[in-house]
Amino acid sequence: MSIKILGTGSALPVRRVMNEEIVRMVDTSDEWIRERTGIGGRHVSVGETAASLAADACSRALEDAGKTAEEVELLLVATCSPDEVAPCTACRVQDRIGAGNAVAFDLNAACAGFLFALHTAWAYVEAGIYRNALIAGSEVLSKVVDWEDRGTCILFGDGAGAAYVEKCVEGGVLGFVQHADGSRGSVLSCGSRRLDNPWFGQRDFQKYLQMDGREVFAFAVRQVPLNVEAALEKAGLGVADVDLFVLHQANRRIIEGIAKRLGADMDRFPVNLDRVGNTSSAAIPLLLDELNRQGRLRRGMKLVLSGFGAGLTCGACVLEW
Ligand code: COA
Repeated sequence: MSIKILGTGSALPVRRVMNEEIVRMVDTSDEWIRERTGIGGRHVSVGETAASLAADACSRALEDAGKTAEEVELLLVATCSPDEVAPCTACRVQDRIGAGNAVAFDLNAACAGFLFALHTAWAYVEAGIYRNALIAGSEVLSKVVDWEDRGTCILFGDGAGAAYVEKCVEGGVLGFVQHADGSRGSVLSCGSRRLDNPWFGQRDFQKYLQMDGREVFAFAVRQVPLNVEAALEKAGLGVADVDLFVLHQANRRIIEGIAKRLGADMDRFPVNLDRVGNTSSAAIPLLLDELNRQGRLRRGMKLVLSGFGAGLTCGACVLEW
């Protein structure tokens, strides 16, 4: 038994910000950003929220799967930039789309969040608790990015992606791995709310996202190929059997480095970060939805999904479309 993706959806804020606009704000250039990252533009919220983007992506995924919101049993939202501390984003989405029969909660594994949510749905279905799940990755990172820090503000974008999954007997998720290394949490981090109560007032507070770019880069290029190979081994497949590698969209050079280590051509690694930047937990389902809508996914194809991010977290999933 496993789970199969039966529908995908995505949503982006209406406002697109090209590199040229960033160049007017910090000391950088379009050429530098494109050469070092592959990013040309990103979408930035002008009022869209993590909940509204996730709800739009979820509605589209349900429509694509031919399902109604009332049929959903488990609703998971992966996000590290929720609109509120409580209630969770998934409950807001449940209300927006009318998924009244679903249990709804959030999950935060940063950029590996969607992947971990997919694996969580697999575990619930495998255990016989639920028969289906609606999973979204949604981020409004523009509110935690320091728009005066050229090392980070060039990278990130806002958006959401979603997938509807259902119990299946054949195909679907064939194998996965997931890891977390909390000892390296400071490599990529962002504060939440300042500790401020009558007994303690915290002065130093990290309000914006902070990152050691080189460390993250090295971690991704080293770790992702290991994860992909381990997940493929669990699925009884090899790199040559994979039709498409749908990787977290952080930096084109990272993807090229991973492809090289796996000994696979870049034409099996679709990329959309040139248009949307790094959308964290939304990146994998956003790209998956693009591929689905372009008709590039055919039933029976073997896909590898793999992500990495703050935590540090990482994982890979092999599935038959
Ligand atoms: N424009 C121009 N110059 C910049 C710049 C920018 N936006 N950002 C950094 N620089 C400068 C640095 O200050 C440094 O200058 P110095 O040599 O005078 O000190 C120089 O460019 C090289 O910096 P470096 O950090 O070595 O560049 P890089 O090639 O590693 O690229 C990143 C930086 C952030 C693009 C890259 O490390 C990266 O993408 N890392 C992964 C980040 C990531 O994916 N995070 C999210 C994970 S989910």
